[in-house]
Amino acid sequence: MEATTSFASWTLSHLSRRPDIQDQIYEEVKDMSVYDPDNLMRAVTLNRVLEETLRLTPALYFLPRRATADTWIETTDHRKMFMPKGTQLRLDVWHANRCEEFWGKAVTGYSAEIFEPKRWDVLAQKGMTSRDMLHFGFGHGPRFCPGRYLGLLEVGLVVGAAVKIFKFTAVNERAEAKAGVSTKPADGALMDLELRA
Ligand code: HEM
Repeated sequence: MEATTSFASWTLSHLSRRPDIQDQIYEEVKDMSVYDPDNLMRAVTLNRVLEETLRLTPALYFLPRRATADTWIETTDHRKMFMPKGTQLRLDVWHANRCEEFWGKAVTGYSAEIFEPKRWDVLAQKGMTSRDMLHFGFGHGPRFCPGRYLGLLEVGLVVGAAVKIFKFTAVNERAEAKAGVSTKPADGALMDLELRA
């Protein structure tokens, strides 16, 4: 529940600053009466928006892990760190997902710090998918989120339904974050709603 509400709040928050993308999603969902996986898969912009939301503003922003064996870690500039078996780790997903070297202009065409679903089109043109570009929004490895597809379906439905009924505009210019168990928009995704004609 926590991760899903966070994910949905962030998606609506980002879209409230991008009326152009709301209109694109509207075209995809206006005739959609059933939000099943097949229908949602065809909503390309909506899917890109969901992916980009989890990259830039992951609901769960660190992954707890424990080293199961003595491990040496080596950085690209050849610095080494020893991690004894049993060490508790927090993998910092929030900052990893904003790393310019991996997510920035040179690779995706857009700065890593901004919300831009089109970066996934650029990656797709290069033959890369979210399998190649891991954003850890649903974790990684053997503890990977088993609720991924249900969660995507739920948030896709909430966002699709909101876009179908309303045009929405953020009250605040910037989307600041607050973090507890999960991350959330600091203003609770405050927005003005206008009924679509
Ligand atoms: C849609 C929003 C969701 C997000 C962003 C999310 C994210 C995550 C993340 C990051 C993890 C940790 C994975 C790891 O440590 O590698 C996780 C684990 C988990 N999630 Fe989700 N999740 C979501 C929805 C759901 C739903 C809907 C369910 C169940 C119906 C669910 C069930 C679980 C369970 C049981 C685990 C623990 C798996 C394990 O430790 O083996 N999640 N989730």
